[in-house]
Amino acid sequence: MITETMLDELRVAVRSHMREERYLHTLGVEKEIRYLAARLAPDLIKEAAAAALLHDVTKFLTLEEQVTYAREKGIALTEDELAAPALVHAKTGAYFAKQYFPDFASDAVCEAIEKHTTLAVPFTLLDAMLFLADFTEEGRTYPECKALRDLLHAKLRTGETDMDRFREVLLAALVCSCTGLLHKKKHIARGSVEAYNALVDGKRFF
Ligand SMILES: [Fe+2]
Ligand SMILES: [Fe+2]
Repeated sequence: MITETMLDELRVAVRSHMREERYLHTLGVEKEIRYLAARLAPDLIKEAAAAALLHDVTKFLTLEEQVTYAREKGIALTEDELAAPALVHAKTGAYFAKQYFPDFASDAVCEAIEKHTTLAVPFTLLDAMLFLADFTEEGRTYPECKALRDLLHAKLRTGETDMDRFREVLLAALVCSCTGLLHKKKHIARGSVEAYNALVDGKRFF
């Protein structure tokens, strides 16, 4: 079982793997996912915090190094990951977490890390919270991130723990992410498209 003392130690440990800017983002994601978990699934708070602290733990590697690392470790990469190597850190991050932080790297935590860049179906509440927290953490200053953060916090501030409100903002984040990629004519991972379709079709995984 993960304790707050263990999370204090994990915070110190992950700091040595990243630059200050990335560390601040990591702390922002932890803060945001704790906010979400406290309202939606208090039992998941510590696992959610661990997933947040570890989600970008291999981002010290360049994109090329990510692909090389994956090949060396026998991590299978999908067509999407080969087409958009920026996605690969999610998979290497899950592997790295299992290897070096096994006390935190439950299957659920590793799955959330692995899906945090694109989401994919089926997704758990933990997967969805990490995906969204990565988007809406307070250090994100893009106008679309700020708008989503305001929307999310306004919806959850009402005191209702209505999962549908969370799903609405999750869908808005996927729309924002996919639209941004479309405008830039960049590759859209099928996991994101599948997650988008699942949400608009009203499918529920949690
Ligand atoms: Fe990431
Ligand atoms: Fe991130």
